Amino acid sequence: MTVSDRRRAGRAVVVGAGHVGMIAAMRLAEANVFAEVVLVDVAGSRAEGIALDLTHTGALTGSGTAVRGVTTLADAGPADYVVVTAGKARTPGMSRTDLVSTNAAIVGSASDIAAHSPDAMVVVVSNPLDEMTYQLWRVSGFPAHRVVGMAGLLDSARFRALASVGGAGDVTGLDALALGSHGAEMVIPLSHAPQVMSALPSEDVAAIEDRARNSGGEVVGLLGDGSAFFGPGTAAARMVLAMVADSDEVISATVRPDGEYGLRDVYVGLPAVLGATGSARSSRSTSHPTNSGNCVTPPPASASGSRSCPETRSGQGVRAGRPPVARPRRGGR
Ligand code: 2OP
Repeated sequence: MTVSDRRRAGRAVVVGAGHVGMIAAMRLAEANVFAEVVLVDVAGSRAEGIALDLTHTGALTGSGTAVRGVTTLADAGPADYVVVTAGKARTPGMSRTDLVSTNAAIVGSASDIAAHSPDAMVVVVSNPLDEMTYQLWRVSGFPAHRVVGMAGLLDSARFRALASVGGAGDVTGLDALALGSHGAEMVIPLSHAPQVMSALPSEDVAAIEDRARNSGGEVVGLLGDGSAFFGPGTAAARMVLAMVADSDEVISATVRPDGEYGLRDVYVGLPAVLGATGSARSSRSTSHPTNSGNCVTPPPASASGSRSCPETRSGQGVRAGRPPVARPRRGGR
């Protein structure tokens, strides 16, 4: 058994072999950390064909992760991580909310996840994201910390990329943390985009934030027959890999606060530490977060907050409310 075989473990399942699912599966396979990545799609042999195509790339990417394509969650086998991309994508002229009735039914059917992968961490991508994440949490019966939505990481990445294109410097050196709902209400607390703020005039930063907020619709308009997939698929995979890494990295994720920030019974984009057992909210990260400054402060109301961080350690909860329930455990279960 090679060293890399020993290192690879667990199974990631991607529900939906559309464009976003394909990219998510590809990124997860390329990471070479899972024993197996399984694509699930009801559409005939589509998932099987994509899986075979991805398998052919193993020698090119250096990944020994097995990739399989099936039509049901039962055939996929019990998963440690599930990425839910099933659902219709927007077309020009549609808002994400226009998808709610169609996609709620699709995401609702993902209750099979609870039956076949009772211990899985779930990353929801389907739109409208906040509502679909809530729907999947409700239908699955999973504890909230094991169901998170992918949105803020994508919005943050878009802001960082556009700022870099706009002259703020190398994208890998730019921090940002998008918070709030995935849509018109998304905000980037500019106190957590220090490099961008110091490199560009404030009117440019405001324009970049606005373009980032609307980038999903911009791509839909340019493509003409669907929505973005490289960004969403890559961001979803990145969230799963953050959980696998079980680091203290602070990532913007759609989570369900339990009184923190005065919020309850809602899924919303907040700073989260994604560990081996799912999400935990953080008001500060002891490690350098990938997509934010040295600390995070509550969303919009304190967007003008100072950069001095509340004295709490990463994963130890937020100033308001009790510490998060997630306790990263080794071994991923
Ligand atoms: C986006 O913003 C699909 O909501 C996703 O591109």
